[in-house]
Amino acid sequence: MDTMRAMRISPDHPLLLRIVDDLAERGWSQQNIFLPDTLTRELALECRTRAVQGELAPAAVGRGPAQEVREGIRGDHIQWLEAGQAEPCDRYLDLMESLRQALNRGLFLGLEDYESHFALYPPGAFYLKHVDRFRDDDKRMVSAVVYLNDGWLPEHGGQLRMYLKGGVEYDVQPTGGCLVVFLSGDMPHEVMPSTRERLSLTGWFRRRGNEPFEL
Ligand code: OGA
Ligand code: MN
Repeated sequence: MDTMRAMRISPDHPLLLRIVDDLAERGWSQQNIFLPDTLTRELALECRTRAVQGELAPAAVGRGPAQEVREGIRGDHIQWLEAGQAEPCDRYLDLMESLRQALNRGLFLGLEDYESHFALYPPGAFYLKHVDRFRDDDKRMVSAVVYLNDGWLPEHGGQLRMYLKGGVEYDVQPTGGCLVVFLSGDMPHEVMPSTRERLSLTGWFRRRGNEPFEL
């Protein structure tokens, strides 16, 4: 790999340690300046290109055979990321790998992998209040969203609304380069409709599941 372009950072990087501390103290973290600007722009271009090429598909809700597309619940279009397909995506995955290591060192979560997808919300699309962990599958431990939007203004809507302890609502603007991380199991949240197309990369750090032993 071209080492100049690699994005692995030390799991002891102060930014990562701050995220770990935030998660330990209150279950979520917001870092407004996480992705470098150039990477944010390259990822946005990659997402738009894939959308134009028809590679993004309406997102489904639920798992397995119960999965279905329900635009009344979520209206985004997604594509799952795979390593080795596009250089900016690999740099993003490198960064998240560094974060995975930091989370494991600091919180002993035993996170084994990271799954993530591009998400494009057309104008008017939303994702109703939900929790990211599936009822029948508790492998998702930590959710991570980075935003890829240039020049986002509050009047564009599209906030991530988090329902914090004590009935407090907290809104994150989906501004390019911003990262939000939260514990997947106990953070209800919702994506408000926007007047603009809204781009993000959303992912989940997962631990090994409690599958029955194979005999
Ligand atoms: C999700 C989600 C939040 C966002 O994809 O599960 O809640 O701000 N995304 O895009
Ligand atoms: Mn979610």
